[in-house]
Amino acid sequence: MEPSLKVIETVQKQALKDIEAAHSESLLREVELKFLGRKSEFNAILKSLGSLSPDERRILGPRAQEAKTNIQQSIEKKKQSLALQSFDASAEWIDVTLPGERNERGHFHVLSRVRRDIEEIFSGMGFDVADGPEIETEWRNFDALNIPKNHPARDAWDTFWLKESALQEDGSSQRLLLRTHTSPVQIRYMQSHTPPFRIIAPGRCFRREATDATHEHTFHQFEALVVGDDVNTAHFKYIGEEFFSRFFGSKVIVRLRPSFFPFTEPSFEFDISCTVCSGKKCPSCKYTGWLEVGGAGMVNQAVFEAAGYSRDRYQGFAWGFGLERLAMMKYKIHDIRLFHSGDIRFIRQF
Ligand code: FA5
Repeated sequence: MEPSLKVIETVQKQALKDIEAAHSESLLREVELKFLGRKSEFNAILKSLGSLSPDERRILGPRAQEAKTNIQQSIEKKKQSLALQSFDASAEWIDVTLPGERNERGHFHVLSRVRRDIEEIFSGMGFDVADGPEIETEWRNFDALNIPKNHPARDAWDTFWLKESALQEDGSSQRLLLRTHTSPVQIRYMQSHTPPFRIIAPGRCFRREATDATHEHTFHQFEALVVGDDVNTAHFKYIGEEFFSRFFGSKVIVRLRPSFFPFTEPSFEFDISCTVCSGKKCPSCKYTGWLEVGGAGMVNQAVFEAAGYSRDRYQGFAWGFGLERLAMMKYKIHDIRLFHSGDIRFIRQF
């Protein structure tokens, strides 16, 4: 067909009409082929432009291009409107009143939370947080703490011994064990620091004992150690009361009862006024008004000596409290075995 303005107009008009009439995507595709395909009328017009004189080409060329663009745009538009029509609203129905799916958020285990709370309170009182390994030498866990071999005090700590030994700098070898308390951290810290200092050392301990509602073979303690020139029992009682009052969020009174630990002299059992009845006596404190939280005392000079300090040069106090026991008091948990039960219902409560 000889290209002319009229032919271009006619083809464009017909194409737009057919596009309008196409009621499905497949019909539209046919129309597209018919008007824009390789063998289409329109393509023939575009091809034949080459045989025209330059003047004719200058007029018809842009017009033919414009018509092609119009047809292409109108096909695109129609495609979109057909796609919208084919969208089945009933199949895609969304109930916007349904509650959304929540992503579950993780959180700290109650023991981690208690440890972090304790660290925060003591950091606020100028304490550093120290650390030590869970596998210890027999010397740091016992001997350096004034508990020599064959001393009956060792019986108080049923110990998991390891088969391996550790070679010491002086060539001797030390039996290894899973630490039975956090007290060896005292020795480690003193070996590398000079007083005055105040630290706490939270960590995991292990004892070979039968488990019950208040005893686990694997549990946590947090040690405190304050050493200086004139540290005395009054400081120790004050810091204890301050810590427990902040930890439980109400005024707590401390009671020290005489006790025995080879590494402290004098030694105390450390009691706090019952956090349930404030000392008025209730089932939680077995009607005594007091709760036992751990062992404590003034650091024995023999321990200072073992750590490399001169005898009678410093004074200090130390304690070792059970972390689980404190968590149990704070959150009214009746059985220590729940902490490591893996029962997600228990963990989610805190
Ligand atoms: C000691 O372990 C001493 N090292 C504490 C100490 C430190 C005294 C510094 C003086 C100076 P004891 O064995 O009593 O002491 O343990 C201290 C606390 O750890 C206990 O009061 C208890 O809260 C906790 N504890 C001990 N054994 C277990 C266990 N099997 N399960 C859970 N908690 C335990």
